[in-house]
Amino acid sequence: MDGLLFYEKSKEANLAQPVLVDTDPGIDDAMAILLALRSPELEVRALTTVHGNADVLQTARNARQILELAERSDIPVAMGAAQPLVRPFAGVVDYVHGANGLGNVSLPAPKMPLVNMPAACFIVEQVMAAPGELTILTLGPLTNLALALHLKPEIAHLVRGVVLMGGAAFCEGNVSPVAEANIYHDPEAARMVFEAPWPLTMVGLDVTKKVVMDKPYLAELQQAGNRFTQFIASIIPCYIAYHNARYQLDGFHVHDPSAVAYLIRPELFRTQEYYVQVETQGSCQGYTVVDRLGLYGQKPNVKVCVDVDAEGVLTLYKQRLTC
Ligand code: RIB
Ligand code: CA
Repeated sequence: MDGLLFYEKSKEANLAQPVLVDTDPGIDDAMAILLALRSPELEVRALTTVHGNADVLQTARNARQILELAERSDIPVAMGAAQPLVRPFAGVVDYVHGANGLGNVSLPAPKMPLVNMPAACFIVEQVMAAPGELTILTLGPLTNLALALHLKPEIAHLVRGVVLMGGAAFCEGNVSPVAEANIYHDPEAARMVFEAPWPLTMVGLDVTKKVVMDKPYLAELQQAGNRFTQFIASIIPCYIAYHNARYQLDGFHVHDPSAVAYLIRPELFRTQEYYVQVETQGSCQGYTVVDRLGLYGQKPNVKVCVDVDAEGVLTLYKQRLTC
């Protein structure tokens, strides 16, 4: 059952879509997780954390702090891979997300414990416990998901689908001329994920760079004055500074929250199915090669988001975070 049909069915039956979020919080990850927690269409079953915007100890700490801010320490968190499958950890992306991954804002140390198993094992356990039910949403490098596939390849037939924030189909990359960060940071893992036989949707830079939170929008968000919008206001200054320096934006691209918006309202996105292959070597490492003309003669393996109602995503975000 594809996302839109499930969305219609679950709306009728008022069923929340169970989701496991694999994440490297990360400022936009934090904003994405808050959107997911405040959306009745989704039931966040678990978070798994991975290296990426910060080291994995920090992303595991950040994930729990975000859940405790939202008073959702009932949601289990499993810590995952400290580095990519076959490469060293690329290092903290402090110039974008701050040294601690949350804009250098310090939150109280998390009280909730981590799940006592690695993320890859926990992903397998969660999928096997709810065959056909669980959507896996990834907001960081795909190392944990690739390891879960390696542990239990049959999960590819037991998930409802995988939705990933990552890739660049027909636009430039953000960490190289062709590669988006989440794919770039573990291209071998990404190749495994793209080659697995599960329903895969790519929410890439083609659409996430069209969704921009600018200063007037952020001021309206902050006017709500709740603890979520105050937290967001506190962590975004360095994220805005990076986007201003790199893209002359007076705001920022909305990457991870757009992937959550896809789960909530897929009709805000236009998608097209293509065969997509991930390059793992050389200067084009992490390039998501989209075979637009079918020249490889391969069946499509990915639903690629090619356009988005950006205003619709921004309206959804504001509505859920300020109500
Ligand atoms: O390219 C954007 C992605 O890389 C986002 O998920 C951001 O959090 C970083 O992980
Ligand atoms: Ca992320």
